[in-house]
Amino acid sequence: MPFFEPLEKIDPKHVDLERARKSLREELEAIDFYQERIDATDDESLKKLLAHNMNEEKEHAAMLMEWVRKNDPTQDKMFKEHD
Ligand SMILES: [Fe+2]
Repeated sequence: MPFFEPLEKIDPKHVDLERARKSLREELEAIDFYQERIDATDDESLKKLLAHNMNEEKEHAAMLMEWVRKNDPTQDKMFKEHD
C-alpha cells in the first residue's frame, strides 16, 4: 500500500512507523491465514508444519509491536495503561 500523502511532506520517523505498522498488519493477517488452514486440514503433519509457521508469525508480530512501542511514546503509554 503506497503512502497517501506526498512522501516529502511526511516526517521520516512517521514513514518508518507506517512501514512497521503495515508490516504488523501483514504478520497478523498471516497468522489468521495459517490458523484457518490448520483448522481446515485433516493431515496431521501439515497441521503441525503450519502451526510452527504460524507461531513464527506471532513472534514477528511481537517484534514489530515492540519496535512500534519503542518508537511511538503514545502507543507505549497506551499499552502500559491497558496492561
Ligand atoms: Fe513473518
